Amino acid sequence: MKHPTILAIESSCDETAAAVYNETEGMLSNVLFSQIDLHKQYGGVVPELASRSHLQKIAPIVKEALEKSGKTLDDIDAIGVTSKPGLPGSLLIGVSFAKALAYAKKLPIIGVNHLEGHAFSSMIEHDVPFPHICLTASGGHSAMYLVKDFGDYEVIGHTIDDAAGEAFDKIAKLINLGYPGGPIVEKLAREANFKDFYNYTRGKKNMINFSFSGLKTAVLYDLVKREAFDLKTKTFLKNDDEQLKKEVASSLLVCIGDIFKNKLKLALKKHPEIKAITFVGGVACNKYLKQQLGDFCQRRNLEFFSPSPQYCTDNAAMIAFVTNYKAKQNKFDDLSLDIF
Ligand code: KG4
Ligand code: ZN
Repeated sequence: MKHPTILAIESSCDETAAAVYNETEGMLSNVLFSQIDLHKQYGGVVPELASRSHLQKIAPIVKEALEKSGKTLDDIDAIGVTSKPGLPGSLLIGVSFAKALAYAKKLPIIGVNHLEGHAFSSMIEHDVPFPHICLTASGGHSAMYLVKDFGDYEVIGHTIDDAAGEAFDKIAKLINLGYPGGPIVEKLAREANFKDFYNYTRGKKNMINFSFSGLKTAVLYDLVKREAFDLKTKTFLKNDDEQLKKEVASSLLVCIGDIFKNKLKLALKKHPEIKAITFVGGVACNKYLKQQLGDFCQRRNLEFFSPSPQYCTDNAAMIAFVTNYKAKQNKFDDLSLDIF
């Protein structure tokens, strides 16, 4: 398929999103409804509520994406949809909707791996040379990929427990910062000048896989030691101590930055042939981490790329981008497309 116009849908977690893309015209629209306010009070995503919200929002969001792009359904050549991985109930809404559209308009359908979407998201705006290493860090995933070509990539390191974003969220919850934790931690850390007060554990130095659950435990026990947390009642005892919150946030952010750099060092040892590093996913909204990884690359004469924030957090633009190269490679699915 040559220069197709793509309509893509993303509903794997708590964002209902749609985008329209054509390689020659660019990203024509990228529309999103975030359910953050719905889940905030629970400190995390509630799957049942997420599915119901997707069901309400999917039709208006797709309609809006088409309207903003200046295209109609008749202009669309292929439909892309996130089919894995994600919350089953949420994925089903997007996939069912995409299949109904494809059937009604006799259009080809392409199921996209959400992680592949993130992995190539920096290429929406930048010409990133191959091969490169992609560091993906979001609320659900943390991994490093060796990216060899469009659609050709392999995992070189992944998390064996929590994701990096989850570490921000869970530790933020420990000290009552609210959800999602990442942006609040960044704000407080900036106010503390990104100083490392508590030197939290960086984990196993020679392990290429990520592990963040130990970090949460380390922060928890450090707080207990400082008589700031009661394990029995699971309550943070220094809620009014803004300085302590800043110090925890700053130490946490510096620690995660160090962990990322260390893992990238190990990845580079294994793959000295790479030409660039990309940093993607919700955590890549973090300006401090971007700066740290940018400097890391500069010292090694490597190019560094990270998407603008709208393409870091979950979005349908990245799904449209993957759908486009898959359509060009004639990698289509059919109406038996299922979720995973
Ligand atoms: O990619 P994303 O929107 O959703 C998933 O696919 O999981 O990522 C959301 C995650 C949350 O854990 C949130 O705390 C984190 O990204 N995040 C940040 C920042 N903004 C969002 N983490 C650190 N610093 C930020 N500025
Ligand atoms: Zn994601």
